[in-house]
Amino acid sequence: MLSWDDQPAAVPRAAQPQLQPVMPTQQFATLADTALDPGILARPEPKSDASARVKAVDKRIINGTTDVNQLVPFKYKWAWDKYLAGCANHWMPQEINMQRDIELWKNPNGLSEDERRLVKRNLGFFVTADSLAANNIVLGTYRFITAPECRQYLLRQAFEEAIHTHAYQYIVESLGLDEGEIFNAYHEIPSIRDKDDFLIPFIDTLTNPSFQTGTVETDQQLLKSLIVFACLMEGLFFYVGFTQILALGRQNKMMGAAEQYQYILRDESMHCNFGIDLINTIKLENPHLWTPAFKDEIKALFLQAVELEYRYAEDTMPRGVLGLNATMFKGYLRFIANRRAQQIGLEPLFEQEENPFPWMSEMIDLKKERNFFETRVIEYQTGGALNWE
Ligand SMILES: [Fe+2]
Ligand SMILES: [Fe+2]
Repeated sequence: MLSWDDQPAAVPRAAQPQLQPVMPTQQFATLADTALDPGILARPEPKSDASARVKAVDKRIINGTTDVNQLVPFKYKWAWDKYLAGCANHWMPQEINMQRDIELWKNPNGLSEDERRLVKRNLGFFVTADSLAANNIVLGTYRFITAPECRQYLLRQAFEEAIHTHAYQYIVESLGLDEGEIFNAYHEIPSIRDKDDFLIPFIDTLTNPSFQTGTVETDQQLLKSLIVFACLMEGLFFYVGFTQILALGRQNKMMGAAEQYQYILRDESMHCNFGIDLINTIKLENPHLWTPAFKDEIKALFLQAVELEYRYAEDTMPRGVLGLNATMFKGYLRFIANRRAQQIGLEPLFEQEENPFPWMSEMIDLKKERNFFETRVIEYQTGGALNWE
C-alpha cells in the first residue's frame, strides 16, 4: 500500500497521465469570458536566456510586467517584513476569556444605559466593516498590485480581517446580543450607514470586473481608493470605536472585549502603515499621478471623512460617557487626520491639534509593551497559544 512516506516511483515523463481539468470545459469558458485582467496571473513566456529572469529593479507596485508568481528577488522588503510581523502577531478570538464580560453584561447594574448603547452601536459598525475591508482586498485591491511581496502581505491582511469579523461575532454571541439588531445596524443607524455609503463607491471601483489600471485616470482612481481605504477607513473610521471600547477596559469594564480590540488595533495599525507605504511607493514610482487637482480631491475626502466619523461619535455618545464626549473626539479626529495627511505627503488639514487621548498612542505602540489590562502581552512568535507572563 502506498503511504505518504513512500518515495513515488519515477514515471517516465511520456508515460504520465494527462491531468484532467478540475472544471468542465464549459466552466472554463465561462471563467475566460469574465473580464479578468490577463495581467492578474501574468507569467511571461519562459525564455532560456538567464537574463530574462525577474530582476528586482524591474518590479513595480502597479502595472508591473514581471512574473507575479516570483516572490524573490525582493524589492519591497518593507512589505515582506510586515507580512512576517503580521504572522508573528497571530491571535484568535477564542483565546480570550469573555466570562467577566458576560457576567457584567447580564448584571442589570453592571453597565449604564449609555454604556450599553455605546457597546451596541460600536459593534454595529464593526461587525460589517471588516467584511467590507476583506472584500475590498480580495475582490479589488489584490488584482491591481503587481508586486508579489505586497500580494503576500495582502493575503495575510485578508485573513486578519476574517479574524476581526470573527472577534466581533464572538463578542456579540458571548454577550447574547440581538444579532439582527447588531448586524443590521449598517442599514438602520444613519451615522453607520453614512460611513459605509462613503466607502462603497471606492470599493466598487476596484471590484468592478471591467476596471483596469494603466491610464492616468484609472491609476488615480486606484490610488484614491487605496488612500480612502488605508487612511480614512482603517486609519480614521476605526478610531472612535477603538477608543470607546479601550476606555471601557481602562475602567475595568468589558475587559475581554477590550483585549480583543487591543489585538485588532495592533493589526489595524499595521494595515494602515502597510497601506501608507504602498501609497507612497506608488507615488514614487508614478509621480505624474500626484497632481494639485488630485491632492485637492484627496483633501476634500479627508474633510468629509472627519465629519462622518464625528457624527458617528455623537450618535454613539449623545451624552458624555466614560469620561468621553463627542466634542473630545472632534479634536482627536482632526489630530489623526492631520497625521494621516502628513504620512502621505499632504499638508496638515487643521490647525495644530493636540491628542486628547495620549493613552491611545501607547495602545497603538503596544507591540511588546505592557498593556492596560492586568496581563502582559508578549508579541508571540508562532501561531496557536498566546504567550503571557
Ligand atoms: Fe480589520
Ligand atoms: Fe484592516
